[in-house]
Amino acid sequence: MNTPLNTKQPPLEAIGLTKRYEDGVLALDNVSFAIEAGQLFAILGGNGAGKTTTINLFLNLLEPTQGEARVCGIPSHKQPLLAKEKVAFVSENVTLYPNFTALQNLDFFARLGNKTDYTADDYHRVLDRVGLEREFHRGKLRDFSKGMRQKCGIAIAILKDAPAILLDEPTAGLDPKAGRDFMKLLEELRSEGKAILMSTHDIFRAREVADVVAIMDKGRMIMQTKAADLAGRDLEAIYMQYMAGHNGDASPSETSYV
Ligand SMILES: Nc1ncnc2c1ncn2[C@@H]1O[C@H](COP(=O)(O)OP(=O)(O)O)[C@@H](O)[C@H]1O
Ligand SMILES: [Mg+2]
Repeated sequence: MNTPLNTKQPPLEAIGLTKRYEDGVLALDNVSFAIEAGQLFAILGGNGAGKTTTINLFLNLLEPTQGEARVCGIPSHKQPLLAKEKVAFVSENVTLYPNFTALQNLDFFARLGNKTDYTADDYHRVLDRVGLEREFHRGKLRDFSKGMRQKCGIAIAILKDAPAILLDEPTAGLDPKAGRDFMKLLEELRSEGKAILMSTHDIFRAREVADVVAIMDKGRMIMQTKAADLAGRDLEAIYMQYMAGHNGDASPSETSYV
């Protein structure tokens, strides 16, 4: 059954998203944001800030305690299958099959997503596009560097052709050139109209490519600002200032829009 989608809905939207884990940890506390088509939204924050929890809620890998993570207007915990069709995920530790070749991984994940009409040529083309050299298309993932595995991960996301893309620390552990190439690819996808949510520790890259930069700390979104409004300002200094000034007791209404 095809549920008609309201195209006015942002591809990604968190509404009062709250997650308390079973052991009592409040990992996410009333977080709200919206990411429009053609927007790259970067979440900065230290370890334990709640970035991965946020992403996992969009993927319905977790149930929210309160609030909703919506994909194209679909609450992911209420209609998980429908929501998952609309979102592609590239994880921090790309979980592809080590004994499969790059081509086999692409074919496997395309089929898993019910895309059965891609040809070998299509796979070669998308691997070319992400910058994996031809000699590695038939190489096994277990022999790949992290950067090469990331390329395969983003190739799979491209083939899924979903309106929303989630990335959990995509450039962690990449060398500077691989990180830069990866960001260029994200910029291309953004200009094709994808809504992209990326968690990162990398202030420099967030500032360079994101349309909106958010800072998360102790489960709260303590800043959301358009990158354009950061022009001429020192994001690192702003980040440090927020981290120093935020003791975790602020009310959600203190969320700042700089
Ligand atoms: N499965 C879990 N059970 C209990 N607490 C968790 C679990 N996963 C994460 N947490 C806690 O939730 C908080 C947010 O973690 P996480 O979302 O992984 O942060 P980040 O990705 O920003 O480093 C941390 O305090 C972390 O210890
Ligand atoms: Mg994380």
